Amino acid sequence: MQKLNHLLLGITGGIAAYKSAELLRLLTSKGISVQVVMTEAACQFITPATMQALSGKPVFTSQWEGNVPNGMPHIDLSRNMDAILVAPASADFISKIAHGSANDLLSALCLARNCPLLIAPSMNKHMWENPATQRNIQQLVNDNILVLGPDSGDQACGENGPGRMLDPLAIMSILTALNQPKLFQNKRILITAGPTIESIDPVRGITNFSSGKMGYCLAQAALEVGAEVTLISGPTSLEPPSNCKLVHVRSAQDMFNEVKNNLADQDIFISVAAVADYRPANPSLQKIKKNSKVLTIDLIENPDILAYVAGLSNPPFCVGFAAESENIMVHAEEKRQKKKLPVIVVNHTSVMGQDHSQITILDDEGTHSLAPALKIDLARELLDFIHHKLQLSD
Ligand code: C5P
Repeated sequence: MQKLNHLLLGITGGIAAYKSAELLRLLTSKGISVQVVMTEAACQFITPATMQALSGKPVFTSQWEGNVPNGMPHIDLSRNMDAILVAPASADFISKIAHGSANDLLSALCLARNCPLLIAPSMNKHMWENPATQRNIQQLVNDNILVLGPDSGDQACGENGPGRMLDPLAIMSILTALNQPKLFQNKRILITAGPTIESIDPVRGITNFSSGKMGYCLAQAALEVGAEVTLISGPTSLEPPSNCKLVHVRSAQDMFNEVKNNLADQDIFISVAAVADYRPANPSLQKIKKNSKVLTIDLIENPDILAYVAGLSNPPFCVGFAAESENIMVHAEEKRQKKKLPVIVVNHTSVMGQDHSQITILDDEGTHSLAPALKIDLARELLDFIHHKLQLSD
C-alpha cells in the first residue's frame, strides 16, 4: 500500500457501525483525509450527519445523488484514494464483494477500485462460521483483499464467539503498520530479546526479569519497514511476529552460539536481550536437596554477546540497550564506550514488563530523548533514527 493520506471509509449495516465514528476520529487525528460512503442499511445504525461532522466532508449514501458533476460517484470517489477500508463489513457485503456484485454505491465503487481494499468483518458468530461466509472470505483473500480480524468475544446479540469487529485502535495499529515507509527493504536485522535462564539444577535457574516486549516490538517494527528479521529469543510468553526467523534459546551461552550462527550478512544487530551476566559454574544434573541452611553457588561470567559482535573486524551496525535504576545516562554512556557501540538506548528499570516506555538514545552526538509512548511506537521511532544514522554514514 502506498502512503495512506486519502482513505475511503465504507460503512455497512451492522451494530458495529457505531464504532466507525471512533475509527473515523482516530483516522482524521492522524491527518488522514477520509471520504465516508455508507450503505442504506448502515444509515439505520448511525447517521450520515455524525460521519459528516467527524470527516468534514459530505457523506455519500447512494449512486443516484446529484452532487458528483459527471454522475459517476462509483468511479470518481475512489480515484484519488490510497485505499478503501470497509468497517464494519457485514456478511451480506462480504458476499457481494466475493461475487463481484455492484448493486449499490459502496459495492460498485469497490468493484471499480484501482487501489487496495481492506475489510473489517462484523457479524454474529454463526454467520461468521457459516461455510458460505468462510467460502466468501477465502475468495476475498484469494483476490488480495486484506481481511482485518474479526475479533472474538461478547457480541451485541448476547452470544460469544468470533465475529466482532476489531477495536478501532487495533484497526489503526494495523493501518499504521501497513503505512510504514519501507526504509529497510533489503536490510537484514538481527535482534536478541527476552531473558536468559542459567540452570542451577534441572528445576532451578538464575534469570533477569525481562518480558521481551521491547525486543519483539522492534522485530515487528523492523518487519513493517521491510527488513529481513532474525529474532533470537530467550523464554517469553509473547506471540512472535509472523514472517520473521525465530530462534528460541534458553541460556546466554545458547544465545551466543545462535547469534554467531546467524551473524553472516547482517546489516544491523540490536541487542535488547537481558542476558544474565553470570551462570552457575557447576550446574547440578540432579535436583539439589534442601539439607543445609546455607547454599553457596559459584558463578562464572557469561560471554558478552554484544561486545563480541561490536568488536568484530567488520561488525554490523550495533545497537545496545541498557536498563538502569540510577544515574541512568552516566551508566549507559559508560557501557556504550566500553562495548564500542555507535548507539545505546537507555530506559529506567521501572518500565520493565510494561507496554509503554520512555527511552533516551545515546550516540557520539549526545543524547536524544523520545517522548513516553507505547513500545511499538518507540521501536518505530528508533528504527527511523537508525535509518537516519546509516544514511548519514553511507
Ligand atoms: O547487561 P548490560 O547492561 O551490560 O547490557 C547492555 C547491553 O549488552 C544490552 O544490549 C545487552 O543485550 C547486551 N549484553 C550482551 N551480553 C551480555 C550482557 C549484556 O549482549 N552478557
